[in-house]
Amino acid sequence: MLDKAKALISPSRRSGVPPFMVMDVMAAAAHIEAAGGRVIHMEVGQPAAAAPSAAVAAARAALGGPLAYTEALGIGSLRRRIARHYQEHYGLDLDPARVIITTGSSAGFILAFLAMYEAGDRVAVACPGYPPYRHILSALGCEPVLLETSAASRWAITPASLLAEHRRRPLRGLLVASPANPTGTMMKAEALAELIAVAEGEGIRVISDEIYHGLDYAYKAETAARLSGNAVIVNSFSKYFCMTGWRVGWTVAPETLVRPIERLQQNLAISVPTLSQIAAEAAFAGRAELEAVKQGYEENRAILSSGLPQAGLDKFLPVDGAFYLYADVSRFSRDSLDFAKRMLEQAGVAATPGVDFDPRHGKEFLRFCYAGSATDMREAVERIGTWLRHAG
Ligand SMILES: Cc1ncc(COP(=O)(O)O)c(C=O)c1O
Repeated sequence: MLDKAKALISPSRRSGVPPFMVMDVMAAAAHIEAAGGRVIHMEVGQPAAAAPSAAVAAARAALGGPLAYTEALGIGSLRRRIARHYQEHYGLDLDPARVIITTGSSAGFILAFLAMYEAGDRVAVACPGYPPYRHILSALGCEPVLLETSAASRWAITPASLLAEHRRRPLRGLLVASPANPTGTMMKAEALAELIAVAEGEGIRVISDEIYHGLDYAYKAETAARLSGNAVIVNSFSKYFCMTGWRVGWTVAPETLVRPIERLQQNLAISVPTLSQIAAEAAFAGRAELEAVKQGYEENRAILSSGLPQAGLDKFLPVDGAFYLYADVSRFSRDSLDFAKRMLEQAGVAATPGVDFDPRHGKEFLRFCYAGSATDMREAVERIGTWLRHAG
């Protein structure tokens, strides 16, 4: 009887995705702040800036209206505006019919995975990489295949590593990201083109996470949409557009996948929040503000790139894009979770332990997010330096 009752309330196996370790760091930081301490937050990957004023004004103006459901694929004028963005930014003619509005890129992944892969399909993702890639895949019954990358390949999957895994056991999918989280590294257009061509040549279906496009400092990020008509692009208003909490993003899909994704969206969500779609369309008018925010990130990047080595953390690759720096802390600790906890408690700087991004080698790394203010970045460098000299 007891067993029967237990079976009724026990969670499914597929819901058993691992937690985000960064949440533990956030909780500890909140504890310190509640007791009156000051913490410099470099753990959470989001812009400190608000949405562009044009987006906020458009949302305010829309509040008086009915805010009804929209079409499942999104508001037509927003889809057209995004297609125009591809022309303006990448010089690519894109049919707005291929643009699908999603609830952040997070929902874009769910829709793309469901539309492209069957349960049981093996999908390659880079390790280190953004943890929800593998957790969403496994929750949906696909098998995430972690392809180990290294500083030598600037943390990118190479055609050779993809093919070696594919020969071992066939892959069905590949997820690439440039700029990448947690490393902030990018792939040159030629390298991305070669990887996609090799994958597609083997029948491996490609998804490109382009959420950090616009935040590229070393050189301009290339969109997979220019390299292949078969790849699915996932993007978002969260990062460059500073709209994380608005939960709005987009996907560019080959024509054949648009209707299946539309049917999925109709059933899973009906549509994306209308207010957020209206604000997102207006956000394109906020370029000047957004470029100023980006300049702030560039300044922070320079402060950390020169300051952290002086503070004692000198093992990291030059960061090309996004707002992350992935530092090897193995000189000080082989347990980055413990290192992050001590750095928080003793230096008042919160960063994310690498274990979230890389179950194998993450214990030797910390991710720093530099989306805060330049003053905070300078103070963080000072604090870390003092701490490592005295206690670290
Ligand atoms: C690489 C990457 N992809 C996707 C996301 C999801 O973002 P959102 O759902 O807000 O678009 C994030 C969020 O941090 C990310 O870092």
